[in-house]
Formats: sequence, C-alpha cells, structure tokens
Amino acid sequence: MKILVIGSGGREHALVWKLARSPHTTQLWCAPGNAGIAQERLAGNGAPVECAAIGAEDLSALLAFAQAQKADLTVVGPDNPLALGIVDLFQKHGLRIWGVNQKAAQFESSKVFSQQFMEKYGIPTAAAGTFDNVNAAKQFTATLGGRCVVKADGLALGKGVLICANQAEAEKAVDEIMVDKAFGAAGARVVIQEYLDGVEVSMHALCDGRVAKIFPTSQDHKRALDGDLGLNTGGMGTYSPTPFLTDAQLAEAAQKILVPFMHGCQAEGIDYRGLLYPGIMLTAAGPKVLEFNARFGDPETQVYLTRLENDLAELLTASAEGTLSSHELQWSPTASVCVVMASGGYPGSYPKGKTIRGLAEAAAMPNTKVFHAGTALKGGEIVTNGGRVLGVTAWAKDLPAAQAAAYRAVETIAFEGAQFRRDIAAKALK
Ligand code: AMP
Ligand code: GLY
Repeated sequence: MKILVIGSGGREHALVWKLARSPHTTQLWCAPGNAGIAQERLAGNGAPVECAAIGAEDLSALLAFAQAQKADLTVVGPDNPLALGIVDLFQKHGLRIWGVNQKAAQFESSKVFSQQFMEKYGIPTAAAGTFDNVNAAKQFTATLGGRCVVKADGLALGKGVLICANQAEAEKAVDEIMVDKAFGAAGARVVIQEYLDGVEVSMHALCDGRVAKIFPTSQDHKRALDGDLGLNTGGMGTYSPTPFLTDAQLAEAAQKILVPFMHGCQAEGIDYRGLLYPGIMLTAAGPKVLEFNARFGDPETQVYLTRLENDLAELLTASAEGTLSSHELQWSPTASVCVVMASGGYPGSYPKGKTIRGLAEAAAMPNTKVFHAGTALKGGEIVTNGGRVLGVTAWAKDLPAAQAAAYRAVETIAFEGAQFRRDIAAKALK
C-alpha cells in the first residue's frame, strides 16, 4: 500500500512513524514533512520515507502528486486542507483519502455551526449564544455577568478565543473580534459561552460515518509556562491516560457526546469519516464540550500512537471505507508522556535555524521517540524551523515512569533558547 501523509508537524511525524510500522505500507511520502520524518524507514522493506516539497494547502499540487504516484491512501493531518475540501477533491477524482469532508470539517471551521448543532442534538455544552450583532453580543455577556468566553466563529490559528472575567473585558473582547477584526473574517460572527470551571481533557474518536470508536483519555497542557501560566499555545505536552476520568466516566461521556453526535450527523446528512476530537471540560455538572476539532490533536497524537497496538494503515482504511465496526481498538496498558520542546519566544516570535544537539543520544534510549515538529536539515545538521520543535515522547508501565523517561530524554537534547514545561503530567501525579 502506497501512502501519502499531508502535514509537517509532530502529529504528522507520529502518523508517519506508526504507518511506517505497518507491514501493508510499501511506500510512504509526506508533504511537506520535516527533518525527522525524512529519517524514518518502513518496517516492511526498509525503504526511506520521502518528503515531497508541497505545502499542505496546495490542494491541486497534492492531487497531482497522489495521482502521479498512484497513492492508495492519503492521510490528512492538519485542519486547513480539510476545511478547504481536500477530501471532497480527492474523492471526486476517485482517490482514497482519510479525513473529514468539507461539510464535516465545519465542526472545527465554524464554532457557530458546532454550537448550534450541540444545542439541537442535546450534546452537553456551555450555555451560549451566537451573534453577528455587536450590541446583542454585549447584552448577552451582561446576562452572564461578564464572566464568559468570546470565540471568533472561524479558524484563527487557535487564537480566536478570549476569556473574560467581567463585563468590561467581555465588551473589549467583542469589540476586538467583531469591530477591530483582530482575527479577520473569522470574527464576523461569535459564539459566547458561559465560563466553565473544571479540569480540561481531550477526547478522541475514530469515525467511519456510522460508528465512533473512542480512544482512552489524554490531557494537553495548553499554556506556555509551568503551572498553566503564560500564553495559550498549540499544546506544550500531553499524557495518556489521565486519572481525571475513570473508564466508567469515559464510557458515560461517550454515550452523552458521541451517540447524539453521530445521530445528529445522520439527521443532517453529514458523512463523518475521520477523527473527532472534542475538547471537554469536566464540570461539577458532568463533562461538557467546549469545542470540536475534526482531526487528530497535536500533541495528543504522539501519546496515542505510542500506545495504539492496531495497525494504523488498517484502521484509517476502515475509517475511510465505513468498515470500522469490524475493528476493535487495542491499547497497550502503558502510560505515555510527550514533552514539547519549543523555540525561545514561542508562542510569540522566535528565531529559526538553531542547531539541535543530542538527538542521537535520545534516539538510543529505550521506549522513547523524539517526534519532530518544526525542524529542518541545513548543511547536514538538524536545526530548529518552527515554534514547537520536538515532541519528546516516552512510554512505560505507569505515568511516573513514563514522565521520568520523557524528561531524561529531554535532558539529553539542547538548542539555543529551548523552552519546555517541567510539569507535564504533574497534575495527574499529585
Ligand atoms: P477552544 O478553542 O474553543 O477549545 O478554546 C480554547 C481554550 O479556551 C480551551 O482549551 C479552554 O482552555 C478555554 N475555554 C474555551 N471555552 C471555555 C469555556 N466555556 N469555559 C472555560 N474555558 C474555556
Ligand atoms: N492539542 C491541541 C490541538 O491539537 O488543538
């Protein structure tokens, strides 16, 4: 099976790494990939993974590449190509592709769409209103005492969510998004949710249009600094499983969220094949959905795929073809921890091109995998090339051992200005 993976981050490195272990995989490309992805080899025939210099949003070039190479399966990592309709395009040309189609991608590309869907189909979520009028939006925040979260409707690189403590902040947030257009057209409409207190966890489910197979629990660390301080980021580290949700609570959450979700999709004519990633707040009144993502999480993928025992090529094919019901997801009983090493300054501006040392030492450590995110090869050296640079991942019999192993690997790696959190998974161990 010849497979093309689209994307260039840590999530895509994890997808490539896992697909490369499948005996079905005979050739594997990644567009555009990164320096770590280019070092992978296929378990079946030893062939190297090839990076193709095509951007993840260059839909026509990706289509031409998949056609020319006769790819049997294309796997889409990031949200943007999904929202642009890459799945619809490939299907129109008779190519097999894994990921949600454009209609299903709306769950992530439009927060208004998601909020209205959740309310219509009884999925537990925050009390909320959706607005395209500034005054109506401000009147609504007042009914919440100003303690609320104002969200730009469209994709805003994870930045279009403003958390407000009082009415003055809420009005400022509404103005910023709707009047000053801080996130461009994404802010023409807003969702305003009540502020929910609780512990936040990530939920993932693989869907095939009919069934949704839930993953174990995991938790991301979105803030830049230890103790959940600092700015919001794409995610500074993850671990799985998380003790904040028992197996019974996870099953209950699945019942309350995934069942009405799949029912609603059928009622609305949405063929949801791909990954569903609801962000969940565990509140005193039970789990509530904050948002839906229509793709694998990054860095959730790094901890999930180091625990997944199934053949990923088989699973993604079944998800694309609607035959998931004949597969049981199998997870190793180990715990996995991923610590993101980022460039100094991230999530603000940061330098690129810093030499990364110690990768070979980390690669030699048992039950450890360094997934690359923002890296490039320059003059024979691997250098930094993005905000999130590496996802240093380790797995072990339990969470304390996995955490210790991940940080041992982090300690062997160095680049100028490297920043990482020292408390990934610490909340779970208190
Ligand atoms: P979102 O992109 O909608 O997941 O929002 C980004 C982050 O804002 C989430 O990961 C939460 O930490 C926080 N957040 C979003 N909605 C709420 C809410 N209703 N109450 C409290 N925090 C929220
Ligand atoms: N881990 C956060 C995200 O993938 O959106």
